[in-house]
Amino acid sequence: MTAAQEIDILIRAKYPILYIVSWEERRVEDALQAVCKNLNRTLHTWSITQGMKPPTTRTSGPAKPMSLPGELEALAQIHESADFTVFLLKDFHPYMRDNRVVRLLRDLALRLRGKAQTLVIMGPSLSLPTDLEKDITVVDFELPIAVDINKKLDEVIEAVKDNPNVDTTMKPMQREIIVKSAQGLTMDEIESVFARSLVEKKAFDVDVVLEEKKQIIRKSGLLEYYPAEHKLSDVGGMELLKGWLEKRTNSFSDKAKKFGIPSPKGVLILGVQGCGKSLIAKAISAHWNLPMLKLDVGRIFGSLVGQSEENIRKAIKVAESVAPCILWADEIEKGFAGASGGAVSDSGTTARVFATFLTWMQEKTSPVFLIATANNVSQLPPEMLRKGRFDEIFFVDLPDKEERKQIFSIHLKKRGRDVKKFKLTELADLTIGFSGAEIEQVIVGALFVAFDDGRELTHKDVVDEAKVVVPLSRMMEEDIAEIRDWAKLRTRPASVHDGD
Ligand SMILES: Nc1ncnc2c1ncn2[C@@H]1O[C@H](COP(=O)(O)OP(=O)(O)OP(=O)(O)O)[C@@H](O)[C@H]1O
Ligand SMILES: [Mg+2]
Repeated sequence: MTAAQEIDILIRAKYPILYIVSWEERRVEDALQAVCKNLNRTLHTWSITQGMKPPTTRTSGPAKPMSLPGELEALAQIHESADFTVFLLKDFHPYMRDNRVVRLLRDLALRLRGKAQTLVIMGPSLSLPTDLEKDITVVDFELPIAVDINKKLDEVIEAVKDNPNVDTTMKPMQREIIVKSAQGLTMDEIESVFARSLVEKKAFDVDVVLEEKKQIIRKSGLLEYYPAEHKLSDVGGMELLKGWLEKRTNSFSDKAKKFGIPSPKGVLILGVQGCGKSLIAKAISAHWNLPMLKLDVGRIFGSLVGQSEENIRKAIKVAESVAPCILWADEIEKGFAGASGGAVSDSGTTARVFATFLTWMQEKTSPVFLIATANNVSQLPPEMLRKGRFDEIFFVDLPDKEERKQIFSIHLKKRGRDVKKFKLTELADLTIGFSGAEIEQVIVGALFVAFDDGRELTHKDVVDEAKVVVPLSRMMEEDIAEIRDWAKLRTRPASVHDGD
């Protein structure tokens, strides 16, 4: 169902107040206009600068001279106006912080219920005072879909058809790519970016469109574009996890869909600190050749009540608009800690944001692959771990001997050293209980020593360094044992461990 259809139903069902979340005034107004025409209603629009257009007709008595602030007067006018009307209030959300406005809206909700009158508030973001939650129905006005974009593309092509300098011919496949890349933009943005592409490249160019999209992600402030900088071969060990990922490499393609494969939902990667959880998340993106967006869980929780929920909805929307893509929620326990633990300190905001996120995970059909990483499992709300949320939950343990050899090898090579000059087995034996990050630290420490002495790195430097480093796991033995026990029952291991 499209938003326009939903609005049509809500208006006919006499819902008193709707709140449409959208940046696109023009599209919303057009859609409302069409609905009103169909239902034989008059649409009045109001904004603080333009006032009510067209003016309302009053149901009773002569107009009283009023000197109310614009927003209150608008509500008063609606209160007294005739049946078969729809009112669209633009940019009204700032006024909803005013107690008088809230009260008037509640009165109106009561009055309009059951009458052929609807009040529609629209704004780019959802900020609803708690008092009004029960009286207002929220409608997400979706961004233009493929059909709309195709229509716009035709319009643009038509508009420049006499211009000999631009080439608007496209193969059907190219056209599909352009249309897909424009999804997630508003109609105005689409129009501008098509025009820009024609000016800059004299043709429709997908890179111009994608550049515009990066802008949007940057502006949203909640997501961050992550360049693909690691390969799966940069990650030592984790062969089970790698195999699992490998199997799903092409599962976002049309071919996979035709074959009957559902898009994978995501994985949760739990484990000991410094063992490469973040690393493998970054590597997946490069391996699958999909853009990766990092979700800043901390930033989701804005300062205003209601804003956090709006933030998470926005982040999800932006991610979906870039799909297929990977959404990476690093250290997820830090954001959602206490979501279910009755922590009332933030009046349930965390719990609500969390619920929004869970629902999305459960129901999402768009090809957004979620990678969540966490190391403190005890802080994770149990709902998160329930079946159906993630495809799989993996546990990354401290690397075993074979894995430590691999990690030494990876990091020596990365720093341009010949691995054959190092006895990997001896190094692995010396570093029982070390994490991948600590092994890397050993190599870096040894490099410092050698560099300070003005000579090349030797095997002995690495051995000496390994002997002085005390791994975190030795100090946190109990904690790690606890995580392991917990994980054994609930997760799948990222690698086959054969002892140390
Ligand atoms: N399995 C591994 N293979 C290769 N390098 C590794 C591995 N594990 C860790 N490292 C090195 O240690 C660095 C830190 O690891 P990373 O940040 O991925 O750990 P993490 O599990 O996310 O830790 P945290 O729980 O602290 O976030 C990596 O960038 C990488 O250089
Ligand atoms: Mg990490």
